[in-house]
This record gives sequence, structure tokens and C-alpha cells, in this order.
Amino acid sequence: PFKPLVFSGVQPTGSLTLGNYLGAIRKFVALQEDNDCLFCVVDMHSITARLVHDDLKEQTRSIAAAFIASGIDPKEHIVFNQSRVPGHAELAWIFNCVARIGWMNRMTQFKDKAGKDRENASLGLLAYPSLMAADILVYRATHVPVGDDQKQHLELARDIAIKFNNDFSSRIEEAGLAVPLTMGEEKVNAYFPVVEPLIDGPAPRVMSLRDGTKKMSKSDPSDNSRINMTDDADTIAKKIRKAKTDPDALPGDVEGLKGRPEADNLVGIFAALSDRTKADVLSEFGGRQFSEFKPALADLSVTVLSPIGDEMRRLMADPGALDAILLDGAERANALAEKTMADVREIVGF
Ligand code: ADP
Ligand code: NA
Repeated sequence: PFKPLVFSGVQPTGSLTLGNYLGAIRKFVALQEDNDCLFCVVDMHSITARLVHDDLKEQTRSIAAAFIASGIDPKEHIVFNQSRVPGHAELAWIFNCVARIGWMNRMTQFKDKAGKDRENASLGLLAYPSLMAADILVYRATHVPVGDDQKQHLELARDIAIKFNNDFSSRIEEAGLAVPLTMGEEKVNAYFPVVEPLIDGPAPRVMSLRDGTKKMSKSDPSDNSRINMTDDADTIAKKIRKAKTDPDALPGDVEGLKGRPEADNLVGIFAALSDRTKADVLSEFGGRQFSEFKPALADLSVTVLSPIGDEMRRLMADPGALDAILLDGAERANALAEKTMADVREIVGF
């Protein structure tokens, strides 16, 4: 079996939101206690939707700062940016030849981001999930904490690993690189693990505060209801006060949140921020009005996010120190990636 290893990435595309924090970064912090982890700023992904950015380095530092300010230890684990480790792009090319065009065409994120003029989207946007699979598998990582929006991409990463393992199965064995893996009934010779997504928790997909049917996204600049990790206390409180709700009181149980996306979203946020379940939160707030619940949620949000925002600003004031952390991380990541790539070159026959 494969040694457990955690990998996850965040794009340097704008101010980090409460969605990124609860769907991803807060989970990273919890996972680092019992696992070896790599946390990556995926700058190569950020040019798939928009090619020219004036502040990519600054954005990259701010994601690293958010990781560290949230509690990730960059000495114990690896914090780095993708473009500094060439193995990601090299393995992605091989995966482009493993994956099928039909697989990519089915990705809902591609359809959303490409919009109507699909022929004019970048080839990189279509191949995005292949690079994402390479990000993970170049370390042969086994567990990937992400938000629910990434579920389909992770299924594709699993499909790529399975197809690579199948297509090259005798070469993997000949090279003495086979790891026995049981897939259902079948025993297979694997080189790549079939990754497990870690998507659980009470807020796997934080929704926009003005439209409970749309996800809160840092890449959507038109949504000014979103809570940023660096918002000050007044801004956070104001955004929560203005959040869309329905006129009813909070239900007493989770069943009662059905068909009430805004209520469900706010209760999920409260639960995730306090490491409780939604049922537990509703046992406290069931029957109360949003006029009572919102101030409690605002206080909790400020208590959790304010110290992180302050620490992010402190870290961002010393760009040289952040660059040194990222460089050290890239060197350690590169050493691991190079081992995998030496195997992969042999398996493919280069
Ligand atoms: P974004 O979609 O905000 O631009 P990324 O694509 O960089 O963010 O994703 C970084 C991580 O944050 C991923 O694990 C993604 O699933 C998670 N994430 C992004 N938005 C949300 C959200 N609204 N709720 C939960 N997790 C989210
Ligand atoms: Na995303």
C-alpha cells in the first residue's frame, strides 16, 4: 500500500474567501497534525482562464501567507508554488496523453469557465484537470482535502491514475515499481495511488451570501457579498447582516434546512467555524430568528478570521521572508517530484 500523504492546492487568483478557508485551508491545518503534507500555490493553473496577471508574485505570497497565518507549519510540511517544480508540467504532459478528450469535455467547471464561446477558451483551461492530477500524483499523494466544487476533478484524477496503472501495468512490474493495490475484486499492479478526496464537514461548499444557489468564489469579482479572509471586523459583520435569508425562524433540526439554501449555508458556516455539526448548532439556535443568529455568526466569524487576517498582513509586510519559505518548500518538493519523474520516465520508456 501507499504511504499516506496529503496534497492540496489553491490558485493565486484574488482575495481568499471564507469558502476557501472552510472548504480547504482550515482542513489543511487539522490534517497536518497526523500527516505529511504538501500545500501548493498553483500559479500555473491561474493562467488558464486569464493569461496576463500583473501581480502574480504578490498573489502567490498572499496565499502562502494565508496558509501560514491559519496555522500551517512550513518547516514541518511543504509550502511552495507549482511553477518552481518542473515535474508538475512534465507529468501533466504525460497525463494529457493518458486522459481522453471526452473526459475533459464533461467537466462542469470547464463549461462554466469557458462560457458560451467554448472554441475560444484556452487549451490549458480544458486540460486543467490533467495538470491537477499531476500536481497530486507527482508526489504520489493519497489524500486531497478540497471543497465540493473540486469533486469532479478528483474523480478524473482517479481515472487518470487507474488508466496509467492499467496501460503501463507490465512495464510497471518489469521496472520493479509495482505497488499491489486491491480495486474492488481485482488485484492490480499500481504505480500511482487512486487518490481519496477529503470533502466532508458541515460546509463543503460555502455559497454566496447574496445568492444561496451560487458558490462563494474568489475568482468572481462581481460578487461583493463574499467574505474575504482579510476583511476587518466591521466589514465581516456588515456582510453577514446583509446576507440574504428567508423570513422564517431557524428550524430545530437539519431536516428543516431542506429547501432553505440561505439558512442551510449560514448554519453550515457557523458549524464549520466552531467545529460543530449543523445539528448541534440548530439545537442551540432552532426557533430563533436570523436577527439573533446573524450577530452570533458575525462574532464567531470575526473571532476566527480577524487574528488570521492580522497575521497575514504581518507576513505580507516581509515579502523576502515569504519568498524564502516558498523557495525552501520548492527545493524539498522538487526532490520528491524528481524521484517520481525518474520512475515515470523509465515506465514510459523515455
Ligand atoms: P476559487 O474557486 O475560490 O477561485 P480555488 O479554485 O483556488 O478557489 O480553490 C481553492 C480551494 O478552495 C479548493 O479546494 C476549492 O474546492 C476550495 N473552495 C473554493 N471555493 C469554495 C467554496 N465556496 N466553498 C468551499 N470550498 C471552496
Ligand atoms: Na475552484
